[in-house]
Amino acid sequence: MTGWLDGRRALVVGAGSGIGRAVVDAFRAEGARVAVLERDPAKCDTLAAEIPGLPVVAGDATTRAANEEAVAAAVAAFGGLDVLVGCVGMFDFYRGLGELDAESIDDAFDEMFAVNVKSHLHAVKAALPALRTSRGSIILTASTSAYYPGRGGVLYVASKFAVRGLVTALAHELAPNIRVNAVAPGGTLNTDLRGPVSLGLDSRRLGDVPNREAELAARVPLRVALSGDDHAWSYVFLASERSRGITGDVIHPDGGVAVKA
Ligand SMILES: NC(=O)c1ccc[n+]([C@@H]2O[C@H](COP(=O)([O-])OP(=O)(O)OC[C@H]3O[C@@H](n4cnc5c(N)ncnc54)[C@H](O)[C@@H]3O)[C@@H](O)[C@H]2O)c1
Repeated sequence: MTGWLDGRRALVVGAGSGIGRAVVDAFRAEGARVAVLERDPAKCDTLAAEIPGLPVVAGDATTRAANEEAVAAAVAAFGGLDVLVGCVGMFDFYRGLGELDAESIDDAFDEMFAVNVKSHLHAVKAALPALRTSRGSIILTASTSAYYPGRGGVLYVASKFAVRGLVTALAHELAPNIRVNAVAPGGTLNTDLRGPVSLGLDSRRLGDVPNREAELAARVPLRVALSGDDHAWSYVFLASERSRGITGDVIHPDGGVAVKA
């Protein structure tokens, strides 16, 4: 490892599986001290067991209280905070508007946007005082669905476009003290991404699609099927001093979707 994050103090929100968990491991391997906020109690137990001493807050990132508790836990453990990473998310399993019952739209929209968008607002708001002090860095998780149709349904695509909006608005507002960027992964192996309770999709996992690895590789120009471990390097870069001149920007570890014929 290269020690790119030596001395950095980070909070990862949505850290129990998939991309967030890979970010926790990569940040620690690069020398960072990491705290986490995670909703699933079983994942919290696993994190605590596998990483002794890790500050773990069990809570719902869509709430102000959970984010304030997690930031306070990180600051108490490390004496400050340099990096905030947002990795929570839920998927809509490609539902078009035509497939959504009219009576389901209110609850499904509220649930999707609470998890995929509002959680980031609460996390950033809670972390602002500590990040201003440290002149820190925020990294949110977008998706290829923040740029293109077809890799998610109308609610997921709209929510991920909104994450781009957060990055642009917050990078503008928080300069020069805090950098704000995002990672926009393509389809990813070995995650636990699920759907909204309000659409009955909370026990369905995107990763359970048959032949997902071959399907992911076949759909992108580089013919690669990427995992959270691959994406984690983009977060490491954006959290490090190597990216000190970059804000309001997005890294695209997606196998080259933008140059697809
Ligand atoms: N899996 C993919 O193919 C893919 C592709 C592009 C972007 N993404 C995005 O990457 C991010 C991470 O997704 P993933 O695929 O690693 O899924 P994941 O479900 O494995 O990881 C998300 C983590 O966040 C937690 N979480 C969810 N809602 C929460 C809440 N309200 N409060 C606290 N914790 C909560 C989950 O329990 C889980 O541990 C999401 O924003 C997702 O949209 C995923």
